[in-house]
Amino acid sequence: MNDTLTVTVPVLRDYKQREEKIACLTVYDATFAEVLQGAGVEILLVGDSLGMVIQGHSTTVPVTLEDMVYHTRCVGRVVKRSLLVVDLPFGSYASPRQAVESGARLLRSGAGMVKLEGGRGRQEVVRALVSEGIPVCGHLGLLPQSIHRIGSYSVQAKSPQASQHLLEDACLLVEAGIDLLVLECIPATLAEAVTAEISVPTIGIGAGAGCDGQVLVLYDMLGLGRGSPPRFVRNFLADAGDIREAVVSYVRAVKEGSFPGTEHAY
Ligand code: KIV
Repeated sequence: MNDTLTVTVPVLRDYKQREEKIACLTVYDATFAEVLQGAGVEILLVGDSLGMVIQGHSTTVPVTLEDMVYHTRCVGRVVKRSLLVVDLPFGSYASPRQAVESGARLLRSGAGMVKLEGGRGRQEVVRALVSEGIPVCGHLGLLPQSIHRIGSYSVQAKSPQASQHLLEDACLLVEAGIDLLVLECIPATLAEAVTAEISVPTIGIGAGAGCDGQVLVLYDMLGLGRGSPPRFVRNFLADAGDIREAVVSYVRAVKEGSFPGTEHAY
């Protein structure tokens, strides 16, 4: 991202067409947001992972809309060029009406796009958000808000049937109007197939190098994750002089395609 560019939905589509990789990181406060934006990170994600890395919960489920509004305001005050994507937290988008109310609050707080988890069952919610002018990022594969149903943070869509189902979900979300799609913890070959099939950019986490962009939880890529890091994480601070340099090195690695390597994929 150059110094004059403001990242918008059409700009992201352009990146996909030009096959320029998109760098994304999570962020929860103003100081880190300035560092990330200064390093050229195109998408800043106020993820509900804040429930785990900031609040100390063991899942993202306890995070409230108030929590997301607070962190969106903190980040939103300093974001000028990057696109600010914000998670709709668990229980805040159960109906189209509730989703629009929640999404509108996040946009008023500084978000440029909201993210929600789930496939075909979310089509009506996506349509309602988009028709109110609220851009939407989908999220398929491992869905942390459903952890009590799925049981563990493991690789998803491994069977041919589950892969086909996920590919169809991606197409149905695009048809409903999403402008971006996060793919979490799925086989690299499947992420590549989804990326080739759909017109909107894909952002992978534990989904291999074939996505249009990559995202990591900021604290994980700085080696500060709680517990042992998942396979798809690389500690960029280990070989850098400071945090700014670590973020610059992450952006460079994503852009040149050296991260993620095959050792980070499933
Ligand atoms: O909440 C979050 O940080 C996320 C990313 C891991 C994609 O959804």
